[in-house]
Amino acid sequence: MSADIKWTKKDLLCLYDLSKEEIIHILDTAQEFKKVSERKVKKVPALRGKTVVNFFVEPSTRTRVSFELAEQRLSADIINMVADSSSLKKGESLLDTVKNIEALQADIIVMRHSCTGAQDFIAKHSKCGIVNAGDGAHSHPTQALLDMFTIREKFGRIEGLNVAIVGDILHSRVARSNMWGLTKLGAKVTLVGPATLVPEEFNELENVRVCHTLEEGLRDADVVNMLRIQHERQNASYFPSTGEYSKYYGLNEGNLKYLKKGAMVMHPGPINRDVEISSAIADGENSVILEQVTNGLAVRMAVLFLIAGAL
Ligand code: CP
Repeated sequence: MSADIKWTKKDLLCLYDLSKEEIIHILDTAQEFKKVSERKVKKVPALRGKTVVNFFVEPSTRTRVSFELAEQRLSADIINMVADSSSLKKGESLLDTVKNIEALQADIIVMRHSCTGAQDFIAKHSKCGIVNAGDGAHSHPTQALLDMFTIREKFGRIEGLNVAIVGDILHSRVARSNMWGLTKLGAKVTLVGPATLVPEEFNELENVRVCHTLEEGLRDADVVNMLRIQHERQNASYFPSTGEYSKYYGLNEGNLKYLKKGAMVMHPGPINRDVEISSAIADGENSVILEQVTNGLAVRMAVLFLIAGAL
């Protein structure tokens, strides 16, 4: 299904705010941009004359590098800001920092922040386009978009698929964004993990169910997305030990038999090998983990292109 719509949003904050048609439009646009990276000359002039500031107030490898490469491929001018070497350290507020970036005629700010809602707040007070590169445990829209792109590329559709998301759902912005995006596009989502990390209230959402055993969660799954334990967001003990968590919720050769033949194994990264996923599976034939990273570039090119066009 193609959704040829006119993009008018200056910000990408959360997939919850997007319609099914808008999500499909981003995925279709990304499909076109994927072809650019397969050419001999991997560059287009789409963002020539635009300035993009990458402002990461929380660590990142995949998202930061992939946004920067996407900006280079689109011929944007790029500024990389790191919180530790910015004047946030001297007590300047986030909003004052953004207003100063805006005063330098930046067009788009790509921001990661550990506080939920930081990007929503900034977007309301800035003329720049704001792209959320992850806020606290709330939202990571480009990760979910690249996950959906990868699923659609393999299965040719998202509607009607069963997607299991396993792990620390409570602290995961990836789980929330995937849940919102996948269900809008007609998939069914199963959230799997210990009761302490998978709140029962998610059962009340349409086309979402909660279960607490890997065997039940993996049965019928076309796709399984394994999540890392977010130790940096936990302020309590949610399971007795890492070894125990791994025994009951880690994906390994022992419980791979519960997966359907041809089921796709995903992970947003960073991986904690042999905790939530064994090395053999992370590097095995069902895994698309590095394809997710490749597709992230196309998705981020599409997002930047659409937002630049709406400014
Ligand atoms: N998946 C993801 O967001 O990875 P990074 O934290 O390395 O950006």
